[in-house]
Amino acid sequence: MNNTDSPKRRQPSALLEFTIVLLLIAAAMVFAWNVDFSFMRKQTTSDKKDTSTATAKNTDNNSPEYTRWKEGRALFKSNCAACHNPKTEGTGPILLGSVERWRNAGSYNGKTGEQWLKAWIRNWNEPVQAGYPYAVEMANTRPMQMNVFASLKDEDIDLILLYSENPDGVPVTQ
Ligand code: HEC
Repeated sequence: MNNTDSPKRRQPSALLEFTIVLLLIAAAMVFAWNVDFSFMRKQTTSDKKDTSTATAKNTDNNSPEYTRWKEGRALFKSNCAACHNPKTEGTGPILLGSVERWRNAGSYNGKTGEQWLKAWIRNWNEPVQAGYPYAVEMANTRPMQMNVFASLKDEDIDLILLYSENPDGVPVTQ
């Protein structure tokens, strides 16, 4: 093999380096193009099948998730809409983002924040009496109090939250 440390070999080695740099730039350009491309292109049929974002952008009206969302909306309208709008302040606070707020409020007495949120929705007194700090604070934010919804099943509460966390998530008509 040639001794590549020899000064005479300096030039081919520089050429090689130059080629590598060119290739890297080309690769970066291809990468940038791909990112832009996927970012800017219109939604395709295969994208619609992506359920990774709780089907927030699901436009398939026959999907089970869309059916669940409609059930959630109906439950919300009959039980919660008198005081809440998912996106604006009313008698009750904005609900959009509440899952994250309770989750961030953390675990307490063996229940996660999300479990305390569901307990609150069924009967807000429960987390307050248990002393869950977020709930105690929340109960004091307004003069008005929430109704108790003892008859709501866990599944109903999940459906309501699916709707209130995705108020525009699924188009009503196609
Ligand atoms: C009679 C009015 C009223 C009704 C009906 C009502 N709420 Fe509330 N809700 C409130 C008020 C007021 C608060 C603020 C807490 C307080 O002051 O007691 C609240 C707070 C909440 C919170 C806490 C928000 C946060 O960011 O942490 C959630 C979640 C919630 N309500 C969900 C619901 C759901 C779901 C329903 C229907 C099943 C519902 N509420 C029905 C009045 C109501």
